Amino acid sequence: MRVLLNFEGELAIITLNRPEKLNALDSETRKDFLKAFNEAEERARVAIITGSGKAFAVGADINELILRNPLSSLEAGKLGTELFNRIEESDLVSIAAVNGYALGGGCELAMACDIRIASDKAKFGQPEINLGIIPGAGGTQRLPRIVGLGMAKKLVLTGEVIDANEALRIGLVEDVVPHEKLMEKAKELASKILEKPPLALKFAKKALNASRTMALIDGLKYELSLFSILFSTEDAKEGMRSFLEKRRPEFRGR
Ligand code: COA
Repeated sequence: MRVLLNFEGELAIITLNRPEKLNALDSETRKDFLKAFNEAEERARVAIITGSGKAFAVGADINELILRNPLSSLEAGKLGTELFNRIEESDLVSIAAVNGYALGGGCELAMACDIRIASDKAKFGQPEINLGIIPGAGGTQRLPRIVGLGMAKKLVLTGEVIDANEALRIGLVEDVVPHEKLMEKAKELASKILEKPPLALKFAKKALNASRTMALIDGLKYELSLFSILFSTEDAKEGMRSFLEKRRPEFRGR
């Protein structure tokens, strides 16, 4: 299997597992990833996505890229884009635990996740320009939304590879941790999220995602409608009651 899937309660751990090729995303790996993601979505509420060996993922498999023509590129690229959109739109909260190189599609995969934690050995970049192409699964779209247009242009136009601290400085990752602590820290974050009320989590993610596509005036209305719906849930009553009664809440996902 080119992708491993493990569960720890409601946490899924999806590991790209083609270390000898630095987890290059060939079609088989992408297919296995989709399968693992589908299963994770059914059984878990939070997923950590990581890579085995010294890379998170080094992007599309160049052995496959070299065989593409415009039509096959459109087909394969569409699948990649759809996969990353799925991650972004899913109710599953995704944490990229970036253990090493996250280049090209690897960086795009990390950007499709909700939160990125990097090992201090991680490296990031969109080096497609060096191959005579451009990013094809979000690198020109998600990257500027995360780090700003100027910085995205610098990275995409130069193909420069940056280290974890620079990624933190520009806001591409939310945290950098010692390499050996990466999974521990990612799991800590996952546990913190898993303690939260499930419906509020889903709505929070939906509202935050809407900030990318909706005009502010519409986004504010959308936020208010999701906010208001949550007052119909038992968990909202429990959250507020437990605060007033000075005890830990017990959320049930209703
Ligand atoms: N597609 C296919 N194979 C890849 C690959 C990719 N994107 N990136 C690395 N590999 C393979 C190498 O060909 C090599 O295979 P081999 O051992 O059979 O020769 C193996 O993975 C290890 O890579 P190697 O280049 O020897 O490791 P390195 O530590 O010297 O360099 C990188 C690491 C990441 C700097 C280098 O592999 C690289 O630049 N890769 C391409 C990244 C890229 O352009 N991604 C965008 C694709 S659109």
